[in-house]
Parts: sequence; structure tokens; C-alpha cells
Amino acid sequence: MKFFIDTANLDQIKEAQELGVLDGVTTNPSLMAKEGITGRNNILKHYVDICNIVDGDVSAEVIATDFEGMIKEGEELAELHEQIVVKIPMTKDGIKACKYFTDRDIKTNVTLVFSAGQALLAAKAGATYVSPFIGRLDDISTDGLNLIDEIRQIYDNYAFETEILAASVRHTMHIVNCAKIGADVMTGPLSAITGLLKHPLTDSGLAQFIADYQKGNQ
Ligand code: E4P
Repeated sequence: MKFFIDTANLDQIKEAQELGVLDGVTTNPSLMAKEGITGRNNILKHYVDICNIVDGDVSAEVIATDFEGMIKEGEELAELHEQIVVKIPMTKDGIKACKYFTDRDIKTNVTLVFSAGQALLAAKAGATYVSPFIGRLDDISTDGLNLIDEIRQIYDNYAFETEILAASVRHTMHIVNCAKIGADVMTGPLSAITGLLKHPLTDSGLAQFIADYQKGNQ
């Protein structure tokens, strides 16, 4: 399972990269705004900065909602760096744009996916990644993990190569359960990734080992 971090914060990306388990980064316009990155040139530069930290795919989202606008923006983003994946919304024009980029060997991530039918369309259009948002489904009392399960089954039935990128991951159990279901990738905050490190028995066991060593080596 690949681990992506879902942030535009360079310090957090560096920390995850230094941990040695990072496979990529996802961003979205809200995450860029949260870091105070505004203006087209600053945003483009920020994507390059991210690519220079992480060794893997970096999703950069188009703002346009019409086909022509998505193509223009997506081509500009793809030109920035070989690690860029063009992130496209799950709409009619988005699916057309996805097919356009697929035909030109430009990687895509179809985002804002909330149903198995949408994921099926994204795979048909040749998306590199499909992003079902599990946390946002949980937020409205719908089982987000069930969607990952449905998509896994459909993609396996037809050997679709599109990777299931479980998005809107909020906590460690989302990650563990996505791994059990067989999501190809998960993207989540640094806290969810580092949360996997923690277990009280690890802490107490380590404290005991160190105390015993010190007793024997005084
Ligand atoms: C996915 O690529 C999105 O950036 C992200 O996972 C959305 O997560 P949120 O629902 O926590 O905003």
C-alpha cells in the first residue's frame, strides 16, 4: 500500500519524507489556501517545491471546470515536473479531460468521488488514480470504507489498472481498514501516519528494557 500525505505544508511533507515511508503527496485548492499560497505563479512554484522534497507522485488540482480550461491548466501543470499528476474533478467535463490526458500519457487523479459508479467511469477513462473521499462520507453517516470495498470488487472483476487512492482519511483506523480491504494508496494527514507508530505496550516495554539494562550496567 502506498502512503501519500494530504497537505501542502512543506514542513510536514519533509517530516513524512524523512520517516522513509512516503510515496507521494496530494494537494487541493483548500490545502493550498490553508498554507497561504495564493496567485498562479506562487501556486505553480509551490508544486515544484513539493516535487523537490518527495520522491513520488504529486497531485496538482485544476481550478477550471470546463473541458478546454482543464486541458489548458492540466497541460501547464504536467509541464512543471515529471512527478506531477493532474487532479481532475469527477464531472462530465472532468471525465472527458481524464481520457484526453490518458491518451497523451499524462497521469491523472479523478477526485471528489463518492460512488462506485463514478469510480467505474474514472477507470473507463483510464485514470491513474481514483480518489474516493471516505471521511466526508463518514461525516454524513454513510460508510466510507464500504465504498472502498465496492470499488475494489469492481476493479478486480475487470482488472482495471486505475489505483484506488483512499482519500479524506482522518485517522489511523481508516488507514488500517483501507489496507485490509486492499486500497492501493491512502492519502491522509501527518497525524494519521505517525499515529500508526503508537502503542502503549511499545512504550512501557521499551521503558522496561532500558531500566533493566541500566540496572545491570551500573
Ligand atoms: C484528496 O485528495 C483530498 O485532498 C482530501 O483527502 C480531502 O480530505 P478532507 O475531506 O479531509 O478535506
